[in-house]
Amino acid sequence: MKKIIAANWKTYKTWEQAQASTQELINLLPQDIFADRDVILFPSPVLLKIVAETVRKSRIACGAQNFYPVEEGAFTGETGMAQLRDMGCTHVLVGHSERRHILHEEEQLIAQKVHFALRSGLTPVLCIGETLTERKQGQVEAVLARQLQSALAQDKDASRLIVAYEPVWAIGTGEVAGPNEILAAHASIRQWLEKNLPTGANIPVLYGGSVKPENCSQILLLDNVNGVLVGGASLESEIFSKIVFA
Ligand code: PGA
Repeated sequence: MKKIIAANWKTYKTWEQAQASTQELINLLPQDIFADRDVILFPSPVLLKIVAETVRKSRIACGAQNFYPVEEGAFTGETGMAQLRDMGCTHVLVGHSERRHILHEEEQLIAQKVHFALRSGLTPVLCIGETLTERKQGQVEAVLARQLQSALAQDKDASRLIVAYEPVWAIGTGEVAGPNEILAAHASIRQWLEKNLPTGANIPVLYGGSVKPENCSQILLLDNVNGVLVGGASLESEIFSKIVFA
């Protein structure tokens, strides 16, 4: 399976910085890298248009960090699917831990978003992961299964789907999960997917949480790790390109 290297720019960058970073990344990545790598950038909604326009002639894809599961409508402050399509998005993050924990996004809304994205032709990147308390209580597998079950309840035939395992305690903390922790979590996600989805064996499962050029090669070699979702280390294109080359 081709490895997916995804950048989550969160709430960083101005228009000019986004354009410059995207162009720099295009210049840094030779065409042949895309034989083994898919690269997706997730900028904030106000930067989607400039990033999507800049990557148009490259093989880099552009996705949204969030949307509201409607085509359009009266939903103040939200972005609808028609707007994402118009801007050139092909992917969307759903259920990122910052949206679950800071924006209090509930599992029901996450399921609606996955369903709507699949129906609308976009690829959802469903983010799941346990908190430190849940890990200490030995609940990792149960939490992952619950999050998968609730997010995919209506979409048991989903084939165009990416899952990202992002332990909450590893996001933005510099504390990357250890190889055994990643192996165990990815094995349990793969097992759930294979048991519950006809295409479960082919769904890419990414790892996210403090991925850096120094630790990514080891992570990408682990069983059932089909790519990485990178926050902090994706902001500078030169650093991010090292992860793409890993
Ligand atoms: P991080 O973020 O790489 O800065 O830990 C990962 C993410 O939030 O997807």
